[in-house]
Amino acid sequence: MGIGKMVKGMKTIVRKKTAKGGSAKAPAPGFSSIVEESAHLLVPAGSESDAFHKDVFYNPAMRLNRSLSSLALGAFIREGLLEKPAVLDGLAATGARGIRYALENETGKVVFVDANPAAIPVLKKNIAKNKLAGKAKAVGDDLNAFLCKSWEKFDFVELDPFGSPVFFLNNAIRCVSQKGILSVTATDLAKLCGKEQATCIRHYSSKPMRCPFSHELALRILIKKVVEAAAVHDVAAVPLFSFYHGHALKAFFTCERRPQEASGLLGQIAFAVLCRKCFHRGIEKFPPGKCPNCGAKTDCAGPLWAGETTRVGLSAKLIELNRKRNYADSKAIGKILEAINGENGLPPLFYDLHELSEKLSNHSPKTSEFVKKLRDAGFEAGATHYSPTGVKTNAPIGEMERLLAK
Ligand SMILES: C[S@@+](CC[C@H](N)C(=O)[O-])C[C@H]1O[C@@H](n2cnc3c(N)ncnc32)[C@H](O)[C@@H]1O
Ligand SMILES: [Zn+2]
Repeated sequence: MGIGKMVKGMKTIVRKKTAKGGSAKAPAPGFSSIVEESAHLLVPAGSESDAFHKDVFYNPAMRLNRSLSSLALGAFIREGLLEKPAVLDGLAATGARGIRYALENETGKVVFVDANPAAIPVLKKNIAKNKLAGKAKAVGDDLNAFLCKSWEKFDFVELDPFGSPVFFLNNAIRCVSQKGILSVTATDLAKLCGKEQATCIRHYSSKPMRCPFSHELALRILIKKVVEAAAVHDVAAVPLFSFYHGHALKAFFTCERRPQEASGLLGQIAFAVLCRKCFHRGIEKFPPGKCPNCGAKTDCAGPLWAGETTRVGLSAKLIELNRKRNYADSKAIGKILEAINGENGLPPLFYDLHELSEKLSNHSPKTSEFVKKLRDAGFEAGATHYSPTGVKTNAPIGEMERLLAK
């Protein structure tokens, strides 16, 4: 990218060489200065085109995810769920997340941890660059080792790993303060969506399923894993807000030491059942071998989280806050949030209109039109944030077929 060339919300500043061949306020060799929303960051040069072969990781494609996560933290604070939270950015890399959390929200101290020795000087520079030296520190350590040694509790623990957060869950839960929040990212979608089924079973103790709604199943498997890992510590981890976007799943949990409630949450773990013949789907405690609708053999995924993936009412607060923050991605974020808001209260497991209309009728209606049709017929229905052709409804498959044929 050329001098001063800007991508909305992320500006790369490559400073001009001075007459002596040096540069005014030049970043370290191999690094460039960028601006991502509120944060001024030193990142490896060329991260925009290739984030994966650099000494320190910075992925500009995760900007929306970081913005939506910062927005979520803002909403939790506004809702009184957190007050000046002490933040742990557990897998920090350049510190992009933790720095944005601290600059865009009223937080307490921020601790950044990364095992990569090359990340630590970058983290220190980025802390100073963003005037956070008074309340932030960078620690070079393996996150599990850091968490095991730590007697400190954090009100907001961020796990943003390469791939799966499962390797850190046990220790992370121990370090979340009472009523604190655990934030996890998972980018191991090949496992969670069923391409690498055996690995998913090993890492999540759940069977995934390849189907049009596999991303919803993936999010529910991730949530189940966190709920179960927390229950081991008598902690009730209740999902507050979660979403799928791009190549990542993100989920936030409020964590409270309440053994009975933790047991109660385990009661919301079940199986997803799909009949590939008639498209019936549903949540069952024990998956039946045969479809209750047509008698054909069913497929299943799970165990997985069958409850709400976002607390009712919270998405509306995020929508409100998004309007106030002028993020580069605010329009896209608004769309995701509106869809999540519409999903509230609707049963799990969405239908994909493309797939249904291909098999059950000749034409593919617009999602909004079909949602209206379902509502006019007296059913609850809404679009989903997982797919533009996804519909959530309480209408049975027979009614869907009838309405599609109309
Ligand atoms: C996906 S990157 C984090 C990206 C960052 N949160 C952001 O938003 O830009 C994962 C980071 O975890 C670090 N990491 C991997 N394994 C670790 C471990 N066991 N302990 C601490 N850090 C680790 C890597 O060095 C890498 O910087
Ligand atoms: Zn069937």
